Amino acid sequence: MSVAAIVPAAGRGERLGPGQPKALRTVGGVPMLVHAVRALSRARLVDLVVVAAPADGVAEVSALLALHDIGAEVIVVAGGAERQESVSRALDALPDDVSVVLVHDAARPLAPSELADAVAETVLAGNNAVVPGLPIADTVKRVGAREGALELVTETVRRDDLRSIQTPQGFDRGVLAKAHAAAEEFATDDAGLVERLGLPVVVVPGSAEAFKITRPVDLVLAEAVLAERRARGAL
Ligand code: CTP
Ligand code: MG
Repeated sequence: MSVAAIVPAAGRGERLGPGQPKALRTVGGVPMLVHAVRALSRARLVDLVVVAAPADGVAEVSALLALHDIGAEVIVVAGGAERQESVSRALDALPDDVSVVLVHDAARPLAPSELADAVAETVLAGNNAVVPGLPIADTVKRVGAREGALELVTETVRRDDLRSIQTPQGFDRGVLAKAHAAAEEFATDDAGLVERLGLPVVVVPGSAEAFKITRPVDLVLAEAVLAERRARGAL
């Protein structure tokens, strides 16, 4: 019985602007993917990491991970055209003895190892699907019919029962495989597929450092987080 972490890393990073695939762009001089895989391999409960690389970059990603000191066993597979396909392909590559699976975006390079352990522990305690979530800081409004080029607010949404959901998300392997096999439409996260099966998904406290790098300003924040870690000797 072991715990594997799947890292979808096959996206282009369109919103970050032109350049290398997002997972290979650097933060603090180190590719995001290396940060993410390292943090997972340092998690006490993670035994194996499976990376879904850009389809034309499997050899490059394997070489990159071999170059950096990772620790845990790492398998690299070719990702797909959608995140969900990338995760599915990695699921297909899991060894038989894996019973718990974490799925973690390469685009969340600074998510702490402790978060992966907290999620894995909650799955091992008998929850089939676990997601980290944070309360929402902004006011959230629904928009509808447009007034010319502008959107019109139709409603302010109550936010005290809303959560911003992060990764790593954790699953019983059988449940995640079933959810992926049953998927007819793409979901934006893996837990969403489990919800479609009508199965419960539980939330554990997320981490402010597990934010996703989506736009250029997120890189500025990531550099600042790393500088702060360096300053307190945590790197
Ligand atoms: N991902 C993947 N395969 C895809 C698309 C996305 O493995 N076909 C991965 C990304 O590499 C990323 C994670 O899914 O680690 C979350 O996706 P997102 O933040 O949307 O990254 P990108 O798709 O790379 O960015 P963008 O949507 O701006 O192009
Ligand atoms: Mg994307």
